[in-house]
Amino acid sequence: MLPKSVKIGSVATENNVFLAPLAGYTDFAFRSLCIDYGAGLTCTEMVSANGLLYNSRATKELLYTAPNEKIRCAQLFGSDPALMKEALLHEDLAPFDVVDVNMGCPVPKIFNNGAGSALLNDLPKAEKILSAMCSTGRNVTVKIRLGTERGKSVAVEFAKMAEGAGVKLIAVHGRYRPDYYAGEPDFGEIARVKNAVNIPVIANGGIFSRADAETMMEKTGADGVMLARGALAKPCLFSEILGREYVFDLYAAVSRQLELLKTRFDDIRIAVNFRKVMPQYLKGVACDRRIRLAFTQVNSTAEILSLLKEV
Ligand SMILES: Cc1cc2nc3c(=O)[nH]c(=O)nc-3n(C[C@H](O)[C@H](O)[C@H](O)COP(=O)(O)O)c2cc1C
Repeated sequence: MLPKSVKIGSVATENNVFLAPLAGYTDFAFRSLCIDYGAGLTCTEMVSANGLLYNSRATKELLYTAPNEKIRCAQLFGSDPALMKEALLHEDLAPFDVVDVNMGCPVPKIFNNGAGSALLNDLPKAEKILSAMCSTGRNVTVKIRLGTERGKSVAVEFAKMAEGAGVKLIAVHGRYRPDYYAGEPDFGEIARVKNAVNIPVIANGGIFSRADAETMMEKTGADGVMLARGALAKPCLFSEILGREYVFDLYAAVSRQLELLKTRFDDIRIAVNFRKVMPQYLKGVACDRRIRLAFTQVNSTAEILSLLKEV
């Protein structure tokens, strides 16, 4: 895939292979690793606008960025236009170059509060949120799904509304809410969005290899791709897609991630989080079942590194 820069309002990325936000996985350390492998843009996982306004410590922690994240992007979720604007103007978001709005999350906890993909069913509300945020002059982007009912895409209408509201880029996950993360993305619908607007359109869904990225680009004509689960298993997927030479050593990658995390978190907290991170890394890796299971029960980072020597 031929890399090209993507303009997001007043900033421009180095290339068009982006990392998606993944709650519980794409912390600053993982994002830093992805940048080393060439990611053109990284973003925090979704943070709650309310959490930010209540000065929640957990929310603040999610907004920590790595030194190599040259373009800083945070993702917000919420459902109230005035509060979303207030959150955007909060001092904790001041260092961010881009603020993305989550309008695609399918999980009931978010959806039932009128946020995430619920906003795909309420275009007037979504427009109020985006217009209020864009009125600040900041670089606002939005990440959506195709719709909340399979086969009933609202993506084109939604994208036109977002462009009109002043949004600088739209990322389209080519699946519907009931699909969650399963099945092939609908390339045709992403292509229709690309043809309907003049702002950059980034295509997301089911990219696990260079061939998948090429298919996505060919079939959608999008301006770039966004990697999610594919990057969790292989942060070097960015280099693979960009056609850059790279070396990927799982032990070295995990050690680096752990070292970065140790600058901010207790050992036990990191280890507990890695109980779910390691199974992602081990997808596609030949590894004894006993070791796989042991990774899901670790209590220290030393244990993780010692188990990795056995993989
Ligand atoms: C565990 C998990 C957490 C996610 N968290 C977020 C999130 O915080 N914000 C968001 O916009 N999308 C989130 N997503 C959706 C991904 O960004 C992406 O759109 C989706 O996984 C489809 O891409 P893929 O098929 O390449 O994985 C999440 C997905 C997963 C599996």
